[in-house]
Amino acid sequence: MLPEILPRPAAIGNAEYRDRRATLMAELPADSAVLLPGATLVTRSRDSEYPFRQASDFHYLTGFPEPDALLVLLPGRAEGESVLFCQDRDPALETWTGIRLGAEGARREHGVDQAFENAEREARLDELLDGRTTCYLMFDDADSLALAQAVRHRLAARARRGAQPPLAFADLAPLLHEQRLIKSAAELELLRHAGAISARAHCRAMAAARPGLAEYHLQAELEHEFHWQGGSGPAYASIVGGGANACVLHYVENRAPLRDGDLVLIDAGAEFDLYAGDITRTFPVGGRFTAAQRELYAVVLEAQERALEAVRPGTTLAAIHDGVVRHLTAGLVHLGLLDGDVQARIDDGSIKRFYPHSTSHWLGLDVHDVGDYRRDGEPRPLTPGMVLTVEPGLYIPDDDDIQAAFRGIGIRIEDDIVVTAEGCEVLTADVPKQVADIEALMDNF
Ligand code: GLY
Ligand code: MN
Ligand code: MN
Repeated sequence: MLPEILPRPAAIGNAEYRDRRATLMAELPADSAVLLPGATLVTRSRDSEYPFRQASDFHYLTGFPEPDALLVLLPGRAEGESVLFCQDRDPALETWTGIRLGAEGARREHGVDQAFENAEREARLDELLDGRTTCYLMFDDADSLALAQAVRHRLAARARRGAQPPLAFADLAPLLHEQRLIKSAAELELLRHAGAISARAHCRAMAAARPGLAEYHLQAELEHEFHWQGGSGPAYASIVGGGANACVLHYVENRAPLRDGDLVLIDAGAEFDLYAGDITRTFPVGGRFTAAQRELYAVVLEAQERALEAVRPGTTLAAIHDGVVRHLTAGLVHLGLLDGDVQARIDDGSIKRFYPHSTSHWLGLDVHDVGDYRRDGEPRPLTPGMVLTVEPGLYIPDDDDIQAAFRGIGIRIEDDIVVTAEGCEVLTADVPKQVADIEALMDNF
């Protein structure tokens, strides 16, 4: 029998993309413009390309799925405030690479006010930007900067004939990324679905695990489920680390054999309609935790559960992280992996040897999603609609000064959470993390 197919959530509609553009433009001066290029195809080798993935910022404002597009926003423009440039129609090429919407299709299917094909881009852009005082673009994106510079340069060259180039460039990132930080109901549905697919994939990998397989076999189980459920694949390179490979935070080789007696750490999440899931689970290859693994696991699990309980409006990621650090440090002191006083081991940084990363990041279209973590130099309070991960871990080096039973153990437990008015909703609860539940799941297959 084929595995179950989860019902797909609704795609985000044109009305929402239009509202997002309107919300952004409401923050901009009337005589400004926004230039936002989409992504372009990237060569993988010779004449083959990586699968196309639209740029997150561009997708957020358009939903337009083709490469080499450009969005221009012109607040207050009578002929239309949202102008999209897209690939030229090219019937011969389309036989090879698929239908292009062209200007006509882009306007019809994506609800922008005007659309033009790229052949017209240069002349039209000059016309559209002439007289716009401030041009907003992504300062971190070299393509945006080059594009804006080129337009400015051409308009400046025509200044004696009355052209008015932009007088200032401004960074679009703070405004747009603040908007992206608070997720809409439709975005939360997609994130819930990405979480649900990711959870099923982890269950599948857990059920399949046994000594004699390699890390890549579990990667194959995970990624089969991502695609089976209609996801585009992993939201980031899947991490499957057996034994001490779990201590390499972004281990992606996934080539080593899985050995009985070792733990395996899987950090992997599906991308669905461009939204990311991000789950980590750690479990025994052979289905039973050893005593030392169980003791360390209990410390990480309790830190994670307490952190989840702390997620609610008003608290901060820094406060949640501090709680996790305290709990992990106390656990290591209790197990004899750190000496002396808990506060002293936090203050002198000894805990960083075992827990070098932070506890949370924003999650959305990007796995490490956009949005400021601090406001006026202070950690910002959480508010409803923010989506984040909680992912404490312990990574015990294979060093001589460490008790032998603990050497080379890496454990991380990660879930995805949305902040709600009442507290939080865990989006990835459907994959076991209690020792008994993991052992039971692994036993049943
Ligand atoms: N997989 C990257 C992270 O958990 O942050
Ligand atoms: Mn992760
Ligand atoms: Mn993460």
